[in-house]
Amino acid sequence: KIYNVVLSGGVGSRLWPMSRKSHPKQYLEIFNDRSLFELTIKRNQKITTDLMVIGNKDNECLSQEILNKLNVNCLKVTEAVPRNTAAAIAFSAFAVDKDDILIVTPSDHLIQKMDEYEDAIQRAIELARSNYIVTFGVQPTHPETGYGYIEHKGDRVLSFREKPNHITAQDFIERGNFLWNSGMFCFKAGILLEELKKFEPEIYEKSFIAWENAKDGYLDEALSLDIPANSIDYAVMERSKRIKVVPAKFAWDDLGSFEALYDYFRSGGHPVDRNGNMTIGTNTYTAFVGLNNCIFVTTPTANLILQKEDSQEVKNVYNYLERKR
Ligand code: GDD
Ligand code: MG
Repeated sequence: KIYNVVLSGGVGSRLWPMSRKSHPKQYLEIFNDRSLFELTIKRNQKITTDLMVIGNKDNECLSQEILNKLNVNCLKVTEAVPRNTAAAIAFSAFAVDKDDILIVTPSDHLIQKMDEYEDAIQRAIELARSNYIVTFGVQPTHPETGYGYIEHKGDRVLSFREKPNHITAQDFIERGNFLWNSGMFCFKAGILLEELKKFEPEIYEKSFIAWENAKDGYLDEALSLDIPANSIDYAVMERSKRIKVVPAKFAWDDLGSFEALYDYFRSGGHPVDRNGNMTIGTNTYTAFVGLNNCIFVTTPTANLILQKEDSQEVKNVYNYLERKR
């Protein structure tokens, strides 16, 4: 079988207050009235045989609503608490046969040029059949610090570096043989688990215990809290020797931060003033004085004003509010 595993458990803290724990960004219907979650499922239906959604209990209803609307069968794994992507991906691998192929896709990306996308997936499936863990590499356009970087020669991966600081990212871009990690992966379930066990035995063991005790795909909270929270990028991709990269010719956008959303909205004709300031969430006339490249985000319960370039920092506000609760 070939599964599309949709990761949908993130809270999208960098898009607070548009994205909330109770309504994360992947469910916001702001892309021609569709959500990125829906677009993700549709995009992969043609190239996979099965669908699995790994999400959080807090937004299970939001997922189910869309699954009903699309009328698709889906294996669901529901987390009690988010433990980041290493655990989430481990659950997906435990749920299937070890030779099944998993195409793991985040639920919050915008992808265009479907022919190129499908070609890349087919190439990745071939490599996964030969026991490689496949990443998809996107041509970088700026020294983004929120992404992973793949140093490569053709499809060979020389190194994988998750979220470098600005100076390092700049150096990677100048060196020219680095691609952004798209955040999608393709592998045989058994191969990923072997690597996770090798590099992060504790995540592997504790995820396995939690999985063994799950009821109908629902994970237990106490057992989940025991699993170290880490991303698959740090846990496996930075360390494994079995990584390959398929350079992506499709158009890829991670709408993970306000800076990315700003670019996306702006290219779609959303107004900005002559100093590059943008308002999101209201049509009320808003004036910016003495400010450049600022974004004003307004929602019924919270507002945010930020310097576009500081978009990665928004998660600190979210984390601060979470701690205060
Ligand atoms: N089920 C579940 N559980 N899903 C999760 C969890 C979790 O605990 N945590 C995150 N996710 C989902 C998110 O909803 C998102 O769809 C995906 O997993 C990736 O998580 P992010 O938090 O968005 O990761 P990132 O953007 O910081 O970094 C990743 O993506 C970049 C590209 O967008 C990395 O893979 C980077 O290397 C990559 O460049
Ligand atoms: Mg992301």
